[in-house]
Amino acid sequence: PPAVAASAAASAPPHLLLICFPGQGHVNPMLRLAKRVAAKGLLVTFSSLASVGPKLAAAAGVSAGGDGVPVGRGRVRFEFLEDGDPGPDLDDLMRHLETAGPPPFAALLRRQAEEGRPVACVVANNPFMPWASDVAAGEGIPTAVLWVQSCAVFSLYYHQVHGLVEFPHEDDPTARFKLPGLPEMSAADVPSFLLPSNPLKLHADAIIRQFRTIGRASWVLVNSFAELEADVVAALPGVTPRPPELISVGPLVELQQQEGQEEDDAVRGDLIKAADDCVEWLDAQPPRSVVYASMGSVVVLTPGEVAEMAHGLASTGRPFLWVVRPDTQPHLPAGFVESVSGRGAVVAWSPQERVLAHPSTACFLTHCGWNSTLETVAAGVPVVAFPQWGDQCTDARFLVEELGMGVRLRGARREAVREAVKAAVAGPRAGEMLASARRWSAAARAAVAPGGSSDAHIQAFVDEVARRAQG
Ligand code: UDX
Repeated sequence: PPAVAASAAASAPPHLLLICFPGQGHVNPMLRLAKRVAAKGLLVTFSSLASVGPKLAAAAGVSAGGDGVPVGRGRVRFEFLEDGDPGPDLDDLMRHLETAGPPPFAALLRRQAEEGRPVACVVANNPFMPWASDVAAGEGIPTAVLWVQSCAVFSLYYHQVHGLVEFPHEDDPTARFKLPGLPEMSAADVPSFLLPSNPLKLHADAIIRQFRTIGRASWVLVNSFAELEADVVAALPGVTPRPPELISVGPLVELQQQEGQEEDDAVRGDLIKAADDCVEWLDAQPPRSVVYASMGSVVVLTPGEVAEMAHGLASTGRPFLWVVRPDTQPHLPAGFVESVSGRGAVVAWSPQERVLAHPSTACFLTHCGWNSTLETVAAGVPVVAFPQWGDQCTDARFLVEELGMGVRLRGARREAVREAVKAAVAGPRAGEMLASARRWSAAARAAVAPGGSSDAHIQAFVDEVARRAQG
């Protein structure tokens, strides 16, 4: 009878639906946000494109539809949009989704209501699917955006999009500029998408375009934490036109071995299957001995750079665990894997946060994607920063110069790799870097621990979603 159905709906937890671009750098923070929110009692649906459905379902151990799995006091379930995927090229995918994305997404939202779990809030991660927020608004559903890069990067984009800053010429490495709440910077510290030399125009346009509409979202959540980026966040309300308020909910990382955390990494979002034996391999290495190297999910090194990196890692005299994705493995020097066997391990994908949390790991040679940056901060592992493009340039500047957590690698020559690793692990400043890394790790863990700054922001967000769902 209708009265029973109405009371069941009233007692059901509010339903939050996330729609996620199918790239690893987006899936990880979105899925971790899903789990944090579910842990506080919401029903959370994680949705993405059908092209990644089977991989995500396999990694998470959850099939699409149905009730999903319990996470803390709530549940996480999965849904995938049939969009007629045109293939992996980002330009093609974005153009295709402009028209192919909205109809199945609107249908997905309506189906949730028909099946008795109306959506109380949609969390989108623009920029590559900017239509998602519009579709949700069209259905009368409040929206939130998850910004998956740093607040510093947000500020740099915001100032540029609104004509509030002119960056120095790229050919002048000595020229500096200054924005509120940020240290003096040079062109090399700016996200490369904002510089004239950027070849990835479509990426840049997509990221810039979202700033025109981001203020329409009811919440702008950011994967950062107050203590890490206090100055830049405090300065933003003074900027004209005024940016939306940034609500820090991070670091959205899998915190390993932490007491009192409801988080666990049983529900993972790997789009490449992680090697099973990394942790056992690390167990067999001496404490703080291993160089972990990974360039994330999208950076492609040239064959020459891969070969130099190989020789450089092998020449450090240390054990190393190197992620070389399947698309890059053909560029490894012939016989390399066999020649380093025992001391060096090459894997197609690793369980990265477990590797970083392992006591054998001494340093992380990283491209400084924002997820990797936050993961190494949370784990307290010093870095060799080797940024390639986009926000990685800004993240590297912060890791090395502001957080004091490592050294910079410029160019993938084998001698440079060897010297940078040596400086990060055993050089005269290595102890200082490790101490800084450990301090930032403690701050990161405190932010997401019960009652910490980001935990409190997530609770407030969940409460407000619930309040609106009831009202
Ligand atoms: C992309 C952009 O390149 C990056 O600049 C932006 O900040 C986010 O989107 P990506 O290059 O993949 O991301 O890097 P990153 O942000 O570090 O994300 C990679 C994720 O994959 C991390 O969460 C990392 O833990 C995970 N990973 C990586 C693994 O689990 N195993 C691996 O072997 C390598």
